[in-house]
Order: sequence, then C-alpha cells, then structure tokens
Amino acid sequence: MIDLRDVHKAFGANRVLRGVNLTVPKGESMVIIGGSGTGKSVLLKCVLGLVRPDRGNILIEGQDAARAEREAFLARFGMLFQGAALFDSLSVWQNVAFRLLRGHKKRPRPEAREIAIEKLRRVGLKPEVADLFPAELSGGMQKRVGLARAIAADPEIIFFDEPTTGLDPIMAGVINELIREIVVEMGATAMTITHDMTSVRAIADDVAMLHDGVIKWAGPVAEMDDSGDPYLDQFIHGRAEGPIEAVR
Ligand SMILES: Nc1ncnc2c1ncn2[C@@H]1O[C@H](COP(=O)(O)OP(=O)(O)O)[C@@H](O)[C@H]1O
Ligand SMILES: [Mg+2]
Repeated sequence: MIDLRDVHKAFGANRVLRGVNLTVPKGESMVIIGGSGTGKSVLLKCVLGLVRPDRGNILIEGQDAARAEREAFLARFGMLFQGAALFDSLSVWQNVAFRLLRGHKKRPRPEAREIAIEKLRRVGLKPEVADLFPAELSGGMQKRVGLARAIAADPEIIFFDEPTTGLDPIMAGVINELIREIVVEMGATAMTITHDMTSVRAIADDVAMLHDGVIKWAGPVAEMDDSGDPYLDQFIHGRAEGPIEAVR
C-alpha cells in the first residue's frame, strides 16, 4: 500500500532522511519508532506530500505520491495529529465533520452532523458532546475527537502521530485499544509514530525503527524483543548506554 524507496530529505545542512526504504502492506498496522528529532514526523509529511523529498520515491498502491492529483490523493488519508490539533473555534461535531463539510467528500450539513455523531459514538463519546467546544473537553476526550475526525471520511490509510503523548497511562491504554479496534474493523492501512513502547505492543503488526536517517530495523512486532539489534534493544529498554548517543 505504501512503498518508500530511498527517500532523502535535508533541511540545509541537517540531513534528516538519508535513504529510507519501507513497505507497508495493505491492511497492516505499521508503527515507526525512534528518538525525538530523528525525522518521524518529516517522514509522515513526505508520504502525505506536505514535504517534498530531495530524492527517492513514495508510491501509494503503485501511484507516485508526488504526481497524484492533490485533493483526490489526500481524500484517501485520515490523520490524527500530535496533540489532537482541534480547531478551537469549531464545535466538536464540526471538527469531526471538517472534511465532510468541504472539498472532495462534501455532504449536506445534516448528513455530515449525523456521520460525526456516529463516529463520536464509535470512539466512546455521547451525542451531547457534539455541540461542545474543544476547550470544554479533557485531554482524553480531545484525543477521541481527533480520532473520530481521522476516521470520519472512512479513509483507506490512517496516520497517527504520537497518539498517546500527554495522556495518563490508563487513558493511553484506552486510546491504544480504540486505535487497534478501529483499524481492524475498517480494514485500513495504518502508520503510527510513537516513542511509547506500550503503544507499539498494543497497535503494531510491524515495527520499524528510524535512526540516523535510515530504517535500522523492521519486522513483525513479535520479533522485536529478540532482534539482536543493539539500536532497537537500547530503544526498547530505554537504556542510557548503547550505540544511540543521548543528546544531553
Ligand atoms: N520544515 C522544517 N524546516 C527545517 N527543519 C525541519 C522542518 N521540519 C523538521 N525539521 C527538522 O527535522 C528534524 C526531524 O524533525 P521531526 O520529524 O519533527 O522529528 P520527530 O522524529 O521528533 O518527529 C529536526 O531536526 C527538525 O528540526
Ligand atoms: Mg514528531
């Protein structure tokens, strides 16, 4: 479904991606791990076409992401942004229905509202929440709204950027479970970025570790603990000592 071939991206002298190769099969849940600042979000933005790689190709079902017609291309994706990133001035249902109210998948307002309420229910929120504003919600509820928005247009591919960052462990567990359930039930292809190992174990079919601009290790989550890869081991166990230098 998603195929990255030798993707390079630098910002000035900062060579962030230095030849990323990665394949995400259709219907699979791929989790990308790596330290902060290693380029995980940049990688995701490259797939979405928000950042243009300097070199290499990104194919979505064989179609070159750089050459696709933007609106139809983006309509295939759902995205849960880091920190939920809801629009403060829109009500909850308008946030969820954001893409249903405009552009390629535009629906009449009452229908968009109905779909929004249905998606809110799917993430465990009552219809009463629909007319509240983001500032009236707890962090966990905001994440749920962000998740409802990501799935509102029934995307084929869903991206989750740090879905549990800032949540307490119990709420993080709830969100992880929801993500897993929804991805399975929609049959969607999912790409999640995280440094939360609990999330990895809850969400992933496959895991890829980004370090020094390349994928250092990729494989099924079941093989992660016995990879024998010193970079992956250090990351999984959160050790200060190892081949990854901590920036102090
Ligand atoms: N638009 C940009 N312009 C310049 N530098 C950027 C830009 N976006 C990201 N970077 C740099 O790329 C590196 C990787 O960033 P990012 O992908 O956000 O890391 P993370 O793995 O934490 O998501 C960082 O050094 C960041 O400063
Ligand atoms: Mg990031």
